[in-house]
Amino acid sequence: MEKKWWQSSIVYQIYPRSFMDSNGDGIGDLQGIISKLDYLKELGIDVIWLSPVFKSPNDDNGYDISDYTDIMDEFGTMKDMEELLSESGKRGIKILMDLVANHTSDEHPWFIESRKSKDNPYRDYYIWRDPVDDSVPNDLGSNFSGSAWEYDELTGQYYLHFFSKKQPDLNWENEKVRKEIWDVMNFWIDKGIGGFRMDVLEMIGKIPDEMITVNGPKLHDYIREMNRHTFGNKDLLTVGECWSATPEIARQYSNPDGSELSMIFQFEHCLLDEVPGKGKWELAPLDFIGLKKVMNKWQTELMNEGWNSLFWCNHDMPRIISRFGNEKEYYMESGKMLATLLHGLKGTPYIYQGEEIGMTNVKFESIEDYNDIEIRNMYNERIANGYSHEEIMESIYAKGRDNARTPMQWDDSENGGFTAGRPWLKINPNYKRINVVNNLADSNSIFYHYKKLIEIRREYTAIVYGDFKMIYEEDDNIFAYERNLNEEKIIVVCNFYEKDVIFKYPGASDKSLNILISNYKDSSLDLSNLTLRPYEGIMYRMVNKE
Ligand code: GLC
Ligand code: CA
Repeated sequence: MEKKWWQSSIVYQIYPRSFMDSNGDGIGDLQGIISKLDYLKELGIDVIWLSPVFKSPNDDNGYDISDYTDIMDEFGTMKDMEELLSESGKRGIKILMDLVANHTSDEHPWFIESRKSKDNPYRDYYIWRDPVDDSVPNDLGSNFSGSAWEYDELTGQYYLHFFSKKQPDLNWENEKVRKEIWDVMNFWIDKGIGGFRMDVLEMIGKIPDEMITVNGPKLHDYIREMNRHTFGNKDLLTVGECWSATPEIARQYSNPDGSELSMIFQFEHCLLDEVPGKGKWELAPLDFIGLKKVMNKWQTELMNEGWNSLFWCNHDMPRIISRFGNEKEYYMESGKMLATLLHGLKGTPYIYQGEEIGMTNVKFESIEDYNDIEIRNMYNERIANGYSHEEIMESIYAKGRDNARTPMQWDDSENGGFTAGRPWLKINPNYKRINVVNNLADSNSIFYHYKKLIEIRREYTAIVYGDFKMIYEEDDNIFAYERNLNEEKIIVVCNFYEKDVIFKYPGASDKSLNILISNYKDSSLDLSNLTLRPYEGIMYRMVNKE
């Protein structure tokens, strides 16, 4: 496979609203990001994925765009954006823009026109249907609770919205819509961005009348066509958000012939702590063997064709230490083990803001302290259906998106140094202990663990390009695998739980072995009989003795 720059890159995701506020209005902004670029440089990342910064009424915090070629007032101006591009460029960091093109805001001029009349030139930019039996056209549901159809009295029809009512779905069957989106993309490409993250990309080929929501028959045609008209010959990083992809579909998206994208985000590993088929709010203990199977499958099936993205966290996910680790007794150990486990795999790693300093989930008592529309809609729906406040809050504590969206914890001053004003969302009360300043002051911190993992990936190409082989597949506690490239072998061994376990690696003795990184100071080199302590996670390098 031809080597690409984004295969050996590390991406850092910024949720601008919560990253750094430069002017005391309580909302993170572009100047705030610029002021922290040196921090990101110190961490060692190559690319920033910026969650949406475009004009938006913020019904879904920027994932509802009202102008694709202008900047949200709270975040700054186009001049600030250009400054961010040039300042990050100076530091060798590229910027990915978040392209939300499955839907717009209902305040986008296209939708304002579209709803005016049935024969408006923009009517077909969106998906309008007549009522059926005086009710919704069909049973399609919104991802944010309730029906996906909203009635508009003005013209007596329903429009489709798979997210909030203020996020009407674009009609990709309309070629004019597709061209508009290419124009937007080319506008940003001309500004010198490094690529795109594409929001719920798998939905653009929907056929609502046939109840087809994802993976529609024309999906890949649309992507290839978009590729040809925009980034196709530009060597950018493109990553699609594709919840329901299988490895087979992912090979198509990330086909090395470059006809579609660089890679996708798939989420199979994020669906293993819920009751199967019941959605994220129905909590279940992690299916650990399932997690290993899923990881193994994606690593193996995209080995020689296609490319994986690697992530535990993003702005829609809970914090990983709270989720799969142990934020109490083994906070440090589990945080570092999970990082090692992920960063040894084949693919492009993504770090979500705050992950690198070990930020955790938050528990606000009142629903009023939550901002996220998904949380609020679900809460109201469940209260109406007779759930108790306590039950609902348990789900929110475990899975709510605001877990990831509380302000970045920079120091132990009021509001964690995020803002001089009142933050738009409350800060996690643990900011006095968990913050950037503390991390930077402690050479043993989670931050330096991430930094070292990044350095190791740069140094040992087996981590970027080596083969993958799962070991101890059936074990209930250990996650272990090896990566092989020519004479070099990387072995990652992780205890996923808190009791001691024994790991035995056959054929360990005749090779020379060293530890690249561990979360314990005195990890053993005796791979033939290793006792792994709670959450111990070690990455070894083995070379044939000369
Ligand atoms: C994606 C985004 C999420 C957003 C949704 C609608 O899943 O990651 O934050 O709410 O799309 O745009
Ligand atoms: Ca601000």
